[in-house]
Amino acid sequence: MTSTLYVLNGPNLNALGKREPGIYGGQTLADIEALCRAETDRLGYGLEFRQSNHEGFLVDWIHEAGERGAGIAINAGAYTHTSIALHDAIRAIKIPVVEVHLSNVHAREEFRHASRIAPAVKGVICGFGAQSYILALNALATITT
Ligand code: DQA
Repeated sequence: MTSTLYVLNGPNLNALGKREPGIYGGQTLADIEALCRAETDRLGYGLEFRQSNHEGFLVDWIHEAGERGAGIAINAGAYTHTSIALHDAIRAIKIPVVEVHLSNVHAREEFRHASRIAPAVKGVICGFGAQSYILALNALATITT
């Protein structure tokens, strides 16, 4: 049976392409999904790619991935900096989780420097635009096989 990697996207990432392109680039979330699908095909994994603006959905999907998936790449958007619920959800599952950001959050406003989820994840990749997702999928493939 094919193992599945989950890519979970949080608030405002549905607006990629239109939203602050100078920071986040011109690619839409559908473009990023297509890149991720090509990469998981290449790596021999299935892909569940989702986005929600609602914290509770992300919590539910982390639990689902913990039951059904091999690993998670998560761009939690602004919930990265605020959400103890996401931190706890990640701690509650056994599969590896990689935190992803398009932008280099450390080179931006101070409120983006702290991540509530970073202490709960395996590793963090930020600053490489859409390529951050591809790097995260490769990191997951390396540690799940
Ligand atoms: C982001 C960085 C966050 O600080 C911000 O709230 C986002 C996107 C990124 O991918 O660079 O929504 O996670």
